[in-house]
Amino acid sequence: MYATTQKLLHKLAPETAHDLAIFGLRLLGELPGSIRPYRAAKRSLFGCEFANPVGLAAGLDKDAKAVAGLARLGFGFIEVGTVTPRPQPGNPQPRLFRLPEHQALINRMGFNNQGVSAMVNRLDKLRARDQLAGTIIGVNLGKNKDTPLQHAAQDYTKGMQQLHTLADYFTLNLSSPNTPGLRQLQHGNDLSALLDQVKETQQRLAITASATPLLLKVAPDLDDEDIDQIAEQVAKHELQGLIATNTTLGRDAVRGHPLSEQAGGLSGAPLTQQSKTVVRKFRQRLPAGMPIIGVGGIGCTADAQDMLDAGADLLQIYSSFIYKGPKLVRELARSVK
Ligand SMILES: Cc1cc2nc3c(=O)[nH]c(=O)nc-3n(C[C@H](O)[C@H](O)[C@H](O)COP(=O)(O)O)c2cc1C
Repeated sequence: MYATTQKLLHKLAPETAHDLAIFGLRLLGELPGSIRPYRAAKRSLFGCEFANPVGLAAGLDKDAKAVAGLARLGFGFIEVGTVTPRPQPGNPQPRLFRLPEHQALINRMGFNNQGVSAMVNRLDKLRARDQLAGTIIGVNLGKNKDTPLQHAAQDYTKGMQQLHTLADYFTLNLSSPNTPGLRQLQHGNDLSALLDQVKETQQRLAITASATPLLLKVAPDLDDEDIDQIAEQVAKHELQGLIATNTTLGRDAVRGHPLSEQAGGLSGAPLTQQSKTVVRKFRQRLPAGMPIIGVGGIGCTADAQDMLDAGADLLQIYSSFIYKGPKLVRELARSVK
């Protein structure tokens, strides 16, 4: 069934196919009946019960339009966003490219999204329907393109303030390559100042409601010194976990492909080894027991197991879901020990 749908979708321009898929998933979400995640290899991490360890990575459902439909596919968790405080159009199209020979994508979407208020409305309705029995919903937060870097922390804390009763966890996205300067915030004083502010906000919000876990999402393009420093800051600020990794700026694995020089982040199979290596390095440096979500080029059960062996506690997929379809979710979840 998906093979036919995929053939049709992949005949369309990537972003048209994406919009159509989101539309279809919205309809799927509207069907009556409760929605249950696939139950296999459940985990309990940062106060959340994950029915299975396979999640949808951020960026596919940026505006939380299709959460119920996605949940019907069996994901243990769904990360919506990246959402920014104010709506923004993102980069001009075309900005999403398929490299099927490499089971890869290149994107330079640039956080196109409808803003935090629209997300609050959608998640409010979803929670009110009380239809999602047990699917964890994470919200991935970003900064607006035109917010100066020195004020970036305010964009993250605005998102936290408005969404903290609706999100099961927050991801601080400092690692998208498509917002100028964003990745700089992963380093040195910029990182520690930003984490000071978000941590302070988390604690303040926890006075009236329970604290929403905060995870940091990092790039794969980090050297050992970067990894040491980030791990130290994550531990010092007592974040609840780390997500590794976002897309890469590297092109070695796809060199020679006609689309390889398109600007943006590369994801999918070319990222498998790099993301796994980054996860392994963080596992060695982070406090024992601090959860890591492994993401990047997980395309089959062997990749999933390798990522867990490298030290990940949970997994996320994006590109392989586009190429292989919904059956992959249960296939991966079933295979995990
Ligand atoms: C089209 C596209 C859009 C993405 N948008 C976001 C985003 O908004 N926020 C984010 O944190 N990651 C975003 N990502 C990165 C994914 O969440 C994931 O980290 C990355 O693609 C690696 O996983 P994969 O190899 O399974 O695709 C995006 C990826 C793609 C392909």
